[in-house]
Amino acid sequence: MAYHEGVRLAEPPATGTAETTDDLLERQRLRESSARSYPRRLPIALVEGRGTTVRDHQGREYLDCLAGAGALALGHRHPVVVQALREVLDEGTPLSTLDLPTPVRDRFVEQLFAVLPEPLRDGRLLFCGPTGADAVEAAVKLARTATGRSGLIAFGGAYHGMTQGTLALTGRKAVKEPLGALLPDVHHLPFPTAFRSPFGVDDGDGAAMAGRLVEWALTDDLSGIATPAAVIAEPVQGEGGVQPMPAAFAATLRRATSAAGTVLIADEVQTGLGRTGELWASEAIGLDPDVLVLSKAVGGGLPLAVIVHRGELDGWQPGAHAGTFRGQTLALAAGAATIREVVRGGMAQRAREAGRRLTEGLVAVAAGDPRVGHVRGRGLMVGAELVDPGVVDADGVPVPDGWLAGKVQAEMLRRGVIVEVGGTHDAVVRFLPPLVITDDEIDRVVDAFGGALRAVHAESGEEAER
Ligand SMILES: Cc1ncc(COP(=O)(O)O)c(C=O)c1O
Repeated sequence: MAYHEGVRLAEPPATGTAETTDDLLERQRLRESSARSYPRRLPIALVEGRGTTVRDHQGREYLDCLAGAGALALGHRHPVVVQALREVLDEGTPLSTLDLPTPVRDRFVEQLFAVLPEPLRDGRLLFCGPTGADAVEAAVKLARTATGRSGLIAFGGAYHGMTQGTLALTGRKAVKEPLGALLPDVHHLPFPTAFRSPFGVDDGDGAAMAGRLVEWALTDDLSGIATPAAVIAEPVQGEGGVQPMPAAFAATLRRATSAAGTVLIADEVQTGLGRTGELWASEAIGLDPDVLVLSKAVGGGLPLAVIVHRGELDGWQPGAHAGTFRGQTLALAAGAATIREVVRGGMAQRAREAGRRLTEGLVAVAAGDPRVGHVRGRGLMVGAELVDPGVVDADGVPVPDGWLAGKVQAEMLRRGVIVEVGGTHDAVVRFLPPLVITDDEIDRVVDAFGGALRAVHAESGEEAER
């Protein structure tokens, strides 16, 4: 122990020696809040990460199909990211400059503007606090300021963050209900989900119906919703269970919001920068947003968040969205390097091909197992919804089986693959690997999924016999 003015400072423990994974998890359990989440379902402690692979304390390796919830487009410690970080440290650029310009910041901005969807290339960028949620907050404030209206339309199944404002926009009720009143004047409309349509119809019809509802809400003088400041949507809902937005619905959103003078915000925090097989998922479906919200991948795995918006919205006051860490130097360097590498390396195209291979593999598993109700996604944002084939809902669709998804997640971890769950009842097994995942690694992921399903089946059979 070292001592400093009477305060006892703990010596940092030497990694890889004294502790086991269980020690670290236990220390975390004792010290950190019960709000901690991932270690409950994924009880591992990581000491190393390279590419798609992470290694735990015991030397066990895992294929990381969670990848910082999609933040690690290039995987762990990609050489171009490490190099960019080293250069910044060697150059001596200040690490924190509020929003004072630096050459590193300038390079990031130039790099991002060079690859943005065309209509936003002459727009404006705002650095936000370094989380996706803060960027969504900024987008909402911008839309409210620009329109002088307060209302917001979001969608069932949406995920926009965990602040009180963004929670108001989010779909999952369990995280909202303990809090009471959140941001007022938020209205949720149904998202045209595949497989489990809120309208109880086929996917195509669902997109048309959801679009009609948006048009009705924005144009019917009896809809009960005052013309909103903004409509916010994810081009592929992630936490909502991997639900790609149909292009027809995107077209309706664009048309209806333009007609109503309502700002259209695309939340590409998770989908942005190649993840869905296109550089920008909103561009690929013709969403053409007024505001694009970006975080995760654009920071190269370090905390960074921005909004990019049409220039004409830029009428707010200096300091209208301030914060200490708006564009932190290391994240800017990592982000610029990542954007360059994703574009230069054709990583969006690679995500499309890899996503196809992954989806085909999962579909093949589903063909032999009725507990896999639906496989869907875009690029390397893929989900497999697990169901109880013996119980159907009023529309004849098998009910979601969150218990099974949790079991499969745990069994896949035992087989060395990290996945996440999401969607209704957390019944969707989510695959969000780095874009650098190889074909061989994809095949291992698919094998682990099939093997986990068989193992859970065998285990429940044994339990039933007992
Ligand atoms: C679409 C979307 N928006 C916003 C957020 C919130 O980002 P953060 O967790 O950095 O606040 C997330 C996080 O997963 C997200 O997926």
